[in-house]
Amino acid sequence: MRDTMRTPKLSPDRNGTSAQVADAPAIIRFVGVHKRFGQQHVLEDLSMDIPTGLTTVVMGPSGCGKSVMLKHIVGLLRPDAGEVYFDGERIDRLKEREFRRIRLQIGLLFQMAALFDSMNVLQNIEFPLVEHTTLTAAERRDRVREALEMVDLAGVEQKLPAQLSGGQRKRVGLARAIVLRPRVVLYDEPTTGLDPIRSDGINELIIKLRRTMNVTSIVVTHDLVSARKVADHVVMLLGGKIAAKGTYDQIESNSDPHVQHFVKGHYDKADEDVMPAIPHRNDSPAPEAMP
Ligand SMILES: Nc1ncnc2c1ncn2[C@@H]1O[C@H](COP(=O)(O)OP(=O)(O)OP(=O)(O)O)[C@@H](O)[C@H]1O
Ligand SMILES: [Mg+2]
Repeated sequence: MRDTMRTPKLSPDRNGTSAQVADAPAIIRFVGVHKRFGQQHVLEDLSMDIPTGLTTVVMGPSGCGKSVMLKHIVGLLRPDAGEVYFDGERIDRLKEREFRRIRLQIGLLFQMAALFDSMNVLQNIEFPLVEHTTLTAAERRDRVREALEMVDLAGVEQKLPAQLSGGQRKRVGLARAIVLRPRVVLYDEPTTGLDPIRSDGINELIIKLRRTMNVTSIVVTHDLVSARKVADHVVMLLGGKIAAKGTYDQIESNSDPHVQHFVKGHYDKADEDVMPAIPHRNDSPAPEAMP
């Protein structure tokens, strides 16, 4: 039987963690994770607990390792040292075949939504059900309809991704991410490229999924408005480790100047020391990451 790992009880003022977060067991846990690419040390002794049933926002400058961190959760990257746990089970050493069992519990929404261009909306959302379930065609249609309702989209089943707006594509990507009813949803910059109203629509969906499906979410974002709105818990990554954590308000009043500059959007040359020089963008999941 799996032992449920509990985050230690933390006092709010000393550790910058709200009681709600401190009381929630950790569904995902990074323990002393290091990840290097050649000479570049991207994750440096990263230890972090993701509380069950809550929304954790991960912020940090471009290239600081946010997407790399997410990829460790779905086994697309493995740590050079340290451990990653899912629901109390160590997963960083699981064989590829065994990792499928973990991935099926995790929905991914990557920045570009990563829809299959040649498939219509219905086929895109149905894809994980065809791959991983024995549901009948009629049952699959019901599940697709349920997922589309959840993301407040109707009447687009027969459209191709190219016929949708950016906001609609993100909703379809999210419908696909939740169609297997995952316990955890990972969002990599879900509002990037959307206007403020559509961004807010995505924020509302993140909140709705937490409320109605009780999912645990990790939202990687640079969007401070979105972070403030959806976060129960915020983690700020700088230089491969956690620079600050707590509620959004606690992060906003954090005294570390690097953290202050980030949340105020203020450029300071001194921050270059903790900002990676060459940001790397790779927001599309490898096909094997998609349940
Ligand atoms: N597969 C890879 N091979 C080599 N280097 C990589 C690989 N993946 C990421 N990196 C490097 O790791 C660093 C962190 O990348 P990552 O994509 O996690 O950044 P990020 O914090 O998500 O940035 P952004 O906000 O721009 O998306 C980058 O400097 C990148 O060059
Ligand atoms: Mg990224």
